[in-house]
Amino acid sequence: MKISRAISIAAACGLAAAALSLSAAEAGDAAAGKGKNSMCIGCHGIGGYKTVFPEVYHVPKLGGQHAAYIVKALQEYKAGNRSHPSMRAIAAGLSDKDMADLAAYYATDAMQSAAK
Ligand code: HEC
Repeated sequence: MKISRAISIAAACGLAAAALSLSAAEAGDAAAGKGKNSMCIGCHGIGGYKTVFPEVYHVPKLGGQHAAYIVKALQEYKAGNRSHPSMRAIAAGLSDKDMADLAAYYATDAMQSAAK
């Protein structure tokens, strides 16, 4: 009796979690994107937008770009329609949800003013 009750509670929790992640997949979650951008900030978070390693090169500004533009760019890198090697490697590891979250984060007003 006790055990089957515990199982049904666990099942209900699992369902609720699944419903939550489904609804989150529809739109980017800026807060989640903030947590995922640690792998981008090394290149895209630098004042003057230049990386320092392995050589100094220009990096596009992401803060304040439209979310749809960022998602599209990432999908193009992943699909191979854009050819930059580091960005292709990065985008290859991102899910659609990761891209939406990151795009939502970079499109927020806070990022827009920080990027000025
Ligand atoms: C190793 C450095 C590096 C890292 C790490 C990196 N990027 Fe980039 N990113 C670049 C460079 C360089 C370009 C310009 C490439 C080109 O000319 O196509 C770029 C281009 C982009 C573009 C296209 C911007 C535009 O205006 O065309 C987007 C979007 C982008 N990166 C998002 C990200 C995201 C999101 C992450 C983290 C998941 C990330 N990048 C991690 C170096 C990096």
